[in-house]
Amino acid sequence: MTPCLPDGPQARPEVEALVAYSAPLEGRRGLLRLDFNENTVGPSPKVVDAIRAIPADHYAIYPEYDGLREAVVASLGGMGLNPAHIGLFNGVDAALHAVFHAYGAPGDRLLTTSPTFGYYSPCARMQGMVIEAIPYRLPHFGFPLEEIRAALLGPGGAGEPSGDWHPPRILLICNPNNPTGSRLAPERILELAAAAPRTLVVVDELYEAFTGDSVLPPLLNRGGTDAFPAHSNLLVLRSLAKTAGLAGLRIGFAIGAPALVDRISRVTGPYDINSFAVTAARAALEDQAYVDTYVAEVLQARSWLLEQLQAAGVRHHAAGGNYLLIWPSRPAAEVEAELRQAGILVRSMAGKPLIDGSLRVSLGSREQMARFWSAYQLIEAMTISASP
Ligand SMILES: Cc1ncc(COP(=O)(O)O)c(C=O)c1O
Repeated sequence: MTPCLPDGPQARPEVEALVAYSAPLEGRRGLLRLDFNENTVGPSPKVVDAIRAIPADHYAIYPEYDGLREAVVASLGGMGLNPAHIGLFNGVDAALHAVFHAYGAPGDRLLTTSPTFGYYSPCARMQGMVIEAIPYRLPHFGFPLEEIRAALLGPGGAGEPSGDWHPPRILLICNPNNPTGSRLAPERILELAAAAPRTLVVVDELYEAFTGDSVLPPLLNRGGTDAFPAHSNLLVLRSLAKTAGLAGLRIGFAIGAPALVDRISRVTGPYDINSFAVTAARAALEDQAYVDTYVAEVLQARSWLLEQLQAAGVRHHAAGGNYLLIWPSRPAAEVEAELRQAGILVRSMAGKPLIDGSLRVSLGSREQMARFWSAYQLIEAMTISASP
């Protein structure tokens, strides 16, 4: 008899080398959650009513997706979109996973920026891809457009294979970028995609509602029946997690040319999105006014907090998104722990390139930001009075 291997059979080499992507997500209920850029007040009451109205016997039936793609198309408005342009996923995380699964082969290159959203790199690594991450070293963490262009288009500037050089398989742009908030004009992204037809250009627009920077309006306003005729390599990711307040239900969308959406949908299971998420998404998409009001409130709270930070002379950085970076006078992890004791969660960026020592603070309502600011001042004042 063959003896049992203590760790069971080996996984693929790429998986054996991988460290699981895990975020500290336990024990957060009841606290003020400014650590994951979620909506901080919850979804529209219409979403809650719609979920409550699901009869219990429907739990026993596999989910049905009819009408959800149409609802996404209607919510985006404009011309040139139809349901075949919309991929449905169990959160944008699942869409990202599917993109890499469908397109990334061992040795292929992912071109992206650094620091950026933490899930891109494990997705690339699990496929055995090589990661080229261009740092945000320009003043104010400006987007490194020239370096990205050079890495995308190669020595000849044509994006065509030449000698040992191959175009990147995937270019991933988080716009605005999490956590630096860096913004890139949508027109520049469209230019990059048009110049590099062999590269899949993925734009993660999770936080676009807070800036209005999206590649979709210029594509949708051109008229015609297909918004992506000249951009068959462009994929846009959107989620209902951060604005509509559905992070716990997991629902995200990938929007692009039908052939692209078809490829990434091939690597997902038939029922990966559950019935509650489908019902909630339809109700949320019908109540855009709720999302608009929430976004306006966050932007107001942002202005208020920025005034306080400026007046108090606290080093900070704010650009796009419902978050900003603050550099406390002590190690970020210590301040993070003390804020937790005060019932407030923020995210230490200790050890991250270029933003080491900072805290990422998500923005919520004006009242929530006032609570954060009082606690932060108290903790920092304690530091100042304790120093010799
Ligand atoms: C830039 C970015 N992309 C994707 C995600 C994941 O979104 P979802 O909750 O829809 O999976 C996040 C979540 O923090 C994010 O910040």
